[in-house]
Amino acid sequence: MWVLGIDTSCDDTGVGLVRDGKVVVNLVASQVRLHEAFGGVVPELASREHLKALPLLVERALAEAGLTPKGLDLVAATRGPGLIGALLVGYTFAKGMAFALDRPFYAVHHLEGHIAAAWPEGLTPPFLALVASGGHTHLYEVLDLGRYRLLGATRDDAAGEAFDKVARLLGLGFPGGPEVERLAEEAEEAVPFPVPLRGQEGYDFSFSGLKTKALHLVEKGLPKAALAKGFQEAAIAHLAEVVLKAARDTGHRVLLVAGGVAANRALQERFKEAGLEVHFPPRGLSQDNGAMIALAAWRRHQRGFPPSPLSLGATAYWPLEEA
Ligand code: KG4
Ligand code: ZN
Repeated sequence: MWVLGIDTSCDDTGVGLVRDGKVVVNLVASQVRLHEAFGGVVPELASREHLKALPLLVERALAEAGLTPKGLDLVAATRGPGLIGALLVGYTFAKGMAFALDRPFYAVHHLEGHIAAAWPEGLTPPFLALVASGGHTHLYEVLDLGRYRLLGATRDDAAGEAFDKVARLLGLGFPGGPEVERLAEEAEEAVPFPVPLRGQEGYDFSFSGLKTKALHLVEKGLPKAALAKGFQEAAIAHLAEVVLKAARDTGHRVLLVAGGVAANRALQERFKEAGLEVHFPPRGLSQDNGAMIALAAWRRHQRGFPPSPLSLGATAYWPLEEA
């Protein structure tokens, strides 16, 4: 069974093809260059770029898999959350394809997609899932596919957003995560940063203090590599401390770490040492992509979830607990 997955929730056009639960094609057209000059994503420009890139990318994905559109069995797209104009492009396109081909359509929650990317076949819930990306730092208890309990979330910046902001302070490029990681690897010593929210009651996250601290240290003229390393260490320590506390309190021994930040090697090392069974997305599937949306739809279909009505609209705001 072939599933086409489309993600246009932000500034990447993602198209993926999954066959029987395995990723066969995963194409992502990045808009980084387009938005660079503006210092952030310009929603209207993102939508227009998706409109141009999406049909070409779908055509290329099908060609790479040696498929014609009629060879598809399911069509899926991100319904939300995200930039509404950007979402509408992929979502409407996918519904159009499903209608024209007379195939079932699955409306997928973006975070369920991120979780599906890290979810190995055969692993049954319950387990914990941390989604750390440019827009989210959310810790869930995954009770089952489609049943999520939010344990904690960021009170301010998302983890990836903090990496991006610190990268900018250090004069590095966008996206900042990989750049900060590269620079941190050059440092012998780390400038110490305080780990946020130590001793808190719940499982929330906070990254804005780290960003402010980085700003002060940059102004003091401290060496950039040591600063990048210090920031990264504190950000990772914070994520790990909150998640491990939740694991202790809830008794879960299995954890998925998903989203763009999950690609960070130092973070992966830290979580692997935690004494839990930890799963990360394979290479290329941690950041926004279409294959993860196809994987989530495949899981839903396998479990007998009904397809989504074509009349349903995209939605900018959508808690995962309501997916
Ligand atoms: O999941 P994603 O592609 O998009 C969102 O849904 O937001 O995540 C992108 C975020 C960016 O903030 C980027 O800086 C961060 O993930 N990121 C990283 C790394 N690679 C990407 N952060 C830390 N270390 C990395 N290696
Ligand atoms: Zn994402």
